[in-house]
Amino acid sequence: MAVVILNLFILAVFLATSTRAHNITQILSPFPEYSEYNKFLTDTKLADEINSRETITVLVLNNAAMDSLAAKHPLSVIKKALSLHVVLDYFDASKLHDISNGTTLSTTLYQTTGNAPGNLGFVNITDLKGGKVGFGSAAPGSTLDSTYTKSVKEIPYNISVIEISSAIIAPGVLTAPAPSPSDVNITALLEKAGCKTFANLLVQTGVLKVYQSAADKGLTIFAPNDEAFKAPKLPDLSKLTNAELVSLLLYHALASYNPTGALKTQKDTLPTLATNGASKYDLSVTSSGDSVTLQTGVDSSRVASTVLDSTPLSFFTVDSLLLPSELFAKSPSPAPAPAPETSPSPAPLAPTPTPLAPTPHHSPPAPPTSTPAGSPSEPPTADSQNSTADNNAAAYVRIPAVFTVLLTVSVSLIASTLMA
Ligand SMILES: *[C@@H]1O[C@H](CO)[C@@H](O)[C@H](O)[C@H]1NC(C)=O
Ligand SMILES: *[C@@H]1O[C@H](CO)[C@@H](O)[C@H](O)[C@H]1NC(C)=O
Ligand SMILES: *[C@@H]1O[C@H](CO)[C@@H](O)[C@H](O)[C@H]1NC(C)=O
Ligand SMILES: *[C@@H]1O[C@H](CO)[C@@H](O)[C@H](O)[C@H]1NC(C)=O
Ligand SMILES: *[C@@H]1O[C@H](CO)[C@@H](O)[C@H](O)[C@H]1NC(C)=O
Ligand SMILES: *[C@@H]1O[C@H](CO)[C@@H](O)[C@H](O)[C@H]1NC(C)=O
Repeated sequence: MAVVILNLFILAVFLATSTRAHNITQILSPFPEYSEYNKFLTDTKLADEINSRETITVLVLNNAAMDSLAAKHPLSVIKKALSLHVVLDYFDASKLHDISNGTTLSTTLYQTTGNAPGNLGFVNITDLKGGKVGFGSAAPGSTLDSTYTKSVKEIPYNISVIEISSAIIAPGVLTAPAPSPSDVNITALLEKAGCKTFANLLVQTGVLKVYQSAADKGLTIFAPNDEAFKAPKLPDLSKLTNAELVSLLLYHALASYNPTGALKTQKDTLPTLATNGASKYDLSVTSSGDSVTLQTGVDSSRVASTVLDSTPLSFFTVDSLLLPSELFAKSPSPAPAPAPETSPSPAPLAPTPTPLAPTPHHSPPAPPTSTPAGSPSEPPTADSQNSTADNNAAAYVRIPAVFTVLLTVSVSLIASTLMA
């Protein structure tokens, strides 16, 4: 217990000191001339991406320039265009006029999306005659017709905000077809990303339809890759009722758009598609540098790769199944239930066809009391709220809500350390 409290304290201090050094929304809010730009940073969630990074330069456009960029384009295209205006280096007024050899190529956020072939994700910054500084796409044949106008904010060497005269357009960015969310073939994308087992389960259970109906308004998917279904410590999914399997699959998606930057800056727990009134089924997120980890209260899973980031859809692969405490109270490490002596089957899941006919007594999401998993020597926990930290129930009550997440993380960290 003492260890847990100490650990909690350390985490709380860590949280306090790691509070974001800057908030681009706040920096721009005193300037009505950038209100459009600021609004689009929020709508595309680029603001989160900017806040989660250090050493960054934001090239802002005034409302007129922003309007001419935004006109007639869907948000996913505007996001690509704007991510070329976030330079992953620090350029303030003096550094701009002191570029070695008078010209440089600098990486932008667009380059980090993996959608930018060749030089498309770079901007060319060049000292022009007469003290002007020109900006343009680094793609061959581009012009440098956007110029530095003024400095808006300088916080050396964390963030610099400078105004440029017009948008920097990389070839093809505005003309690339933007698929409408309902045209995106979710299973095809997931299969291609190495998540065939998960995609098959979505189809078999009909959960795919729930995902599809959420897609228009915002959908984030955390798809476990095929390796995750072969993990030795994975609870036996064939022991789940149909309703529980549905809840498990719904737990792997959120009804909102959460690209990496939004995940990294997420402070609250996230409701999933399985969240429904009293049944929590939520997720929390921790991050360190560029690595993002999801915490279920039972296990944690690293976000491995981005499959799709196109507003309002963000699909990721994750390294392991997300096990909600509502279904897998306690640690997943002990073999689930009275595990038979049979060696783990090499083909996961496939040979045990899941009963697809709805179980009569269950209405989804599955009641947490029917959890089949859990250590046989312990009494089953009746209440999911305290199932992750039974021994620390007292600590839970006294600690403000914000810290319960941390406590949960802390407890699971300790648990995993002890078990290792
Ligand atoms: C710059 O960022 C670092 C790390 O986030 C922070 O410690 C420092 O205080 C920031 N500097 C300024 C001037 O805000
Ligand atoms: C940034 O500032 C805006 C406006 O001041 C505020 O609404 C938002 O919550 C802040 N974001 C963070 C991550 O603190
Ligand atoms: C500047 O130009 C000189 C001569 O052309 C070259 O040797 C050097 O590598 C350049 N420096 C940078 C930073 O590009
Ligand atoms: C930037 O663009 C100008 C004009 O097209 C070009 O002369 C210059 O070489 C480019 N800079 C770099 C570093 O490629
Ligand atoms: C989506 O892709 C899968 C193959 O992964 C295919 O079987 C299915 O027919 C496609 N759906 C649509 C609506 O095109
Ligand atoms: C969970 O906590 C509540 C009060 O917070 C308590 O009434 C209940 O008995 C606890 N359940 C278990 C299984 O510990």
